[in-house]
Amino acid sequence: MGWIQIVLGGLVIFVSLCSLFRFYTAGFFLNNEDICRQFYAVKEDYSSFDIRALNAQIDDVLNQLDSLQSKLELSVQTMEKNKVDLQKGTVSRLEHKRYLEEEVIRPLYQAHIALRQIRLPSIEGNSTEEVVKEDPLINTFITEEIRKYITPKTSRVSKTNFYGTEKIYNTIGHACVLMKKELQEYMDYDIGSYCRDDWNLAQKLMLGGCDPLPRRRCLTRASKLYQRPYPINESLWKIPDGRNVRWSNYQCRNYECLSSKNPKRGYIKCSGCFEMDKEKLKWVTNTSLPIDFLIKHVLKVKPGEIRIGLDFGVGTGTFAARMREENVTIVSTALNLGAPFSETIALRGLIPLYLTLNQRLPFFDNTMDMIHTTGILDGWIDLQLLDFILFDWDRILRPGGLLWIDRFFCSRKDLDDFMYMFLQFRYKKHKWAISPKSKDEVYLSALLEKPPRSL
Ligand SMILES: *[C@@H]1O[C@H](CO)[C@@H](O)[C@H](O)[C@H]1NC(C)=O
Ligand SMILES: *[C@@H]1O[C@H](CO)[C@@H](O)[C@H](O)[C@H]1NC(C)=O
Ligand SMILES: *[C@@H]1O[C@H](CO)[C@@H](O)[C@H](O)[C@H]1NC(C)=O
Ligand SMILES: *[C@@H]1O[C@H](CO)[C@@H](O)[C@H](O)[C@H]1NC(C)=O
Repeated sequence: MGWIQIVLGGLVIFVSLCSLFRFYTAGFFLNNEDICRQFYAVKEDYSSFDIRALNAQIDDVLNQLDSLQSKLELSVQTMEKNKVDLQKGTVSRLEHKRYLEEEVIRPLYQAHIALRQIRLPSIEGNSTEEVVKEDPLINTFITEEIRKYITPKTSRVSKTNFYGTEKIYNTIGHACVLMKKELQEYMDYDIGSYCRDDWNLAQKLMLGGCDPLPRRRCLTRASKLYQRPYPINESLWKIPDGRNVRWSNYQCRNYECLSSKNPKRGYIKCSGCFEMDKEKLKWVTNTSLPIDFLIKHVLKVKPGEIRIGLDFGVGTGTFAARMREENVTIVSTALNLGAPFSETIALRGLIPLYLTLNQRLPFFDNTMDMIHTTGILDGWIDLQLLDFILFDWDRILRPGGLLWIDRFFCSRKDLDDFMYMFLQFRYKKHKWAISPKSKDEVYLSALLEKPPRSL
């Protein structure tokens, strides 16, 4: 009985391989990058290529593989049931069972999966005006987890989901194709087990334009020594417990090392922002420069009206901490550029928003009472990039909301350009100050109010 099955199985495999061989010549079994090159070549070079026929043939092979697999599995199950008989018989039959399972079914299954993963364009419409509707980019990637991730997901219960769309498109930024190697490395993990300690790879991808990143199905590591955070009445103005930070990917290994006095602290922007005695002075004590506005003066412009806002900059959350004391909730943008900015803000009991300049802000139109910005957008920024960012800020600010540009600096000769950028929206000027920074550079601070926009 078993022998017949095996012979039968062998025959089916032979037939399958023969038909599969035909597809090999069409390039569908090439490895790695060749798959996509070949795939696109098919699309570009053979516009008259009969994709419909190819689809049908691949379907055919898939069905053959399916039925072969179930036949073989059934035969193994039968052998399993007659195990006692088998043991009485020759040892070679047991070996054949193992052979079937390990040498035939498993590779067959793998081949089946591999074949299933080739996403062929689906054909819509008839004859001459065929539209090739291909799910974007899937064949560009080899790592299975990315392919699974970006395959659009249909609703399980009805044709459209609660967004009213037919599919959910998990996206990865298109610039990911520029960092394919890193992205594949990032998505190469065992599902359900621990991720590598690779947040810096993730951040590198984001900064390289692979933003937003795909979600991952592995468990993020945490510090072995994680302690309870300090209570809220203490956490705002205390450097957090260093044991709550995973230091392995920073130049420093503890908070003391991040001091502005240490030339090897590993970060450039906002040196000194890990020293609370310095931080405590910001926005509450007079400085000699007219560009430094105080929080209490700014809030007096709109008493009681400023409740929520965004702090767009680099820092440890001190602006949000001060505003919290004024009962204003501020979300602080934070990237971990050489130091644990996000962790620190969170451990202080404030909200870090892990976000690059690449993205549209995740807030709805006309929602924020205030945007405060310091320490990130300076004279380096491309004017067109700045323009897009300013329009996005304008979008999320509510009418009557305040834009606080704090210590923007640029070279003296560029000042007019930047002033034009900031003033183009015709916001009401509450405060406006310019001070020299150095021989060639100037500081600019402004407090501007978005006008009503009734159209
Ligand atoms: C395509 O042609 C088939 C018959 O060949 C027909 O049943 C079907 O409705 C046609 N589809 C469209 C979109 O015209
Ligand atoms: C913070 O609050 C806790 C109880 O809520 C209290 O025991 C502790 O003394 C407070 N700490 C400070 C610095 O006020
Ligand atoms: C800060 O400066 C203002 C005037 O600009 C003055 O009224 C106030 O007393 C000063 N505060 C301190 C603490 O020096
Ligand atoms: C913040 O809110 C608390 C509780 O409502 C209140 O006691 C406190 O005076 C407020 N602080 C400020 C600065 O308005």
